[in-house]
Amino acid sequence: MAEIIQEIQDRRARRGYREAPVDRATLGRIFTAATMAPSCSNKQPWRFLLCDKEEALAKARHALNGGNYWAKVAPVLVVVTTRDELDCQLEDDRNYAQFDTGMSVMALMLQATREGLYAHPMAGFDPARIRESFHIEPETRVITIIAIGHPGDGANLNEKHAESERSARQRRPLEEVIQWNHWAPLS
Ligand SMILES: Cc1cc2nc3c(=O)[nH]c(=O)nc-3n(C[C@H](O)[C@H](O)[C@H](O)COP(=O)(O)O)c2cc1C
Repeated sequence: MAEIIQEIQDRRARRGYREAPVDRATLGRIFTAATMAPSCSNKQPWRFLLCDKEEALAKARHALNGGNYWAKVAPVLVVVTTRDELDCQLEDDRNYAQFDTGMSVMALMLQATREGLYAHPMAGFDPARIRESFHIEPETRVITIIAIGHPGDGANLNEKHAESERSARQRRPLEEVIQWNHWAPLS
């Protein structure tokens, strides 16, 4: 692979977690990194609900889809939210809250990688359940849940996920995602 920043290279959506807790100082660094992300007019629209205690973890785990069984082992689940009004809302439908929150999640994941932890975002959960369990108001968007934790041996993973832990990254070639100087309509 071309030489790129080490943490970008090392970060993967891994699933083999250990139950060992992540200390609050480490979480502090991870979330400080998240808040270093750029945002439109420095609006910082990201809002995180950190679950690292049993009652909150149980609520967040309950909302996960069956396919995300592996995330129930993680000692920290983060509900990532935002609101459109917390960020730039420009003409022609350009609302930047989710874009900027996504950038903060990337910074969070890279710092977690640097700390030797896994941080894996998920869309596979029931937002209505999260909303109900934590009394999250309707205007707030619940975007993703991130599982944060220490690498484990992966013994609890099904065959497909065990295989995926070992597999190489699949990426579209640069020629497919970059157009130099002229735009040809996407097919
Ligand atoms: C918005 C988003 C939602 C995702 N949802 C899930 C999910 O519900 N379950 C899962 O196992 N992985 C999920 N992933 C992980 C992706 O499948 C993974 O990032 C992708 O296959 C690329 O692999 P890599 O992150 O190891 O490079 C999600 C990733 C993102 C960014």
